[in-house]
Amino acid sequence: MRVLVTGAGGRLGRVVLPRLRDEGWSVRAASRRPRTDPSAEWVVVDLATGEGLPEAVAGVDAVLHLASSPNRGRQTHRVDVLGTRRLVVAAGRAGVRHLGYVSIVGVDRVPIPYYRHKLAAEQVVAAGPVPWTVLRATQFPEFLDGMLRGASRFGPVIGDPAVLAQPVDPGEVAGRLVQRLTAGPLHGIEEYGGPEVIRFDEAVRAWNAARRSRRPLLPVRIPGKVGRALRSGGLVTEATPTGVRTWADHLADTYGGTGAR
Ligand SMILES: NC(=O)c1ccc[n+]([C@@H]2O[C@H](COP(=O)([O-])OP(=O)(O)OC[C@H]3O[C@@H](n4cnc5c(N)ncnc54)[C@H](OP(=O)(O)O)[C@@H]3O)[C@@H](O)[C@H]2O)c1
Repeated sequence: MRVLVTGAGGRLGRVVLPRLRDEGWSVRAASRRPRTDPSAEWVVVDLATGEGLPEAVAGVDAVLHLASSPNRGRQTHRVDVLGTRRLVVAAGRAGVRHLGYVSIVGVDRVPIPYYRHKLAAEQVVAAGPVPWTVLRATQFPEFLDGMLRGASRFGPVIGDPAVLAQPVDPGEVAGRLVQRLTAGPLHGIEEYGGPEVIRFDEAVRAWNAARRSRRPLLPVRIPGKVGRALRSGGLVTEATPTGVRTWADHLADTYGGTGAR
């Protein structure tokens, strides 16, 4: 069985590829630029233009669609929504039998522009001609870590203490995606999150401790519908199974013993 993976060189893509191979899939990996890593057959695809798509989907049994261009306004629309439509149409023409799409827990509840694009892309997938599965994952710990670095650029960590998060290890998301792809089309949406729900202030405390840092939290209440959604659990899920790796595990792997900042 052969699978085309879009966004194969991204954070999630890099951990998905070896798991697909372990499950016996032959992997065609797509990127916008030529790559030479011999563990996959690399093809050049640009979802914003459709370049390379017909060749990329020819002869594959399944597509795992991970590519995305977050928070870039019009480009996000071109890649995530119109690009997903191009991919779905090309896959339908090529007779692909299963399309798996990775989305984000909360795209239907938290009204931020990137999530609207992801939700629209889910709808494109569900309305298309190829049997499908959507897996919505919660945030990767690397995302939360990057956000905390950004939020503390000027000293204190600026953020809403009551926002709830449920970080999930991208390796575990990759494992779940491969299971779902191998099981065949769900014609539905599954959610997958990390093992624990944490408040933003708890996440900051653990982050500071791991980095031997004492940056205070400067509490700022996120206003409006977005703030309400984030504080009331818009980004978390009760779905089971969950991953097992925690925020503390990520911090230990990243900062353990080094005290790096
Ligand atoms: N990060 C999180 O916390 C999180 C949580 C839940 C779900 N997700 C979802 O998981 C997926 C992967 O996330 P990630 O963190 O691995 O993202 P990432 O590292 O940014 O990778 C996304 C990939 O998309 C590809 N891409 C961007 N524009 C493209 C275009 N015009 N045509 C073709 N490919 C394009 C890029 O590949 P090239 O540069 O090689 O072309 C890039 O490697 C996304 O759909 C995201 O929404 C992420």
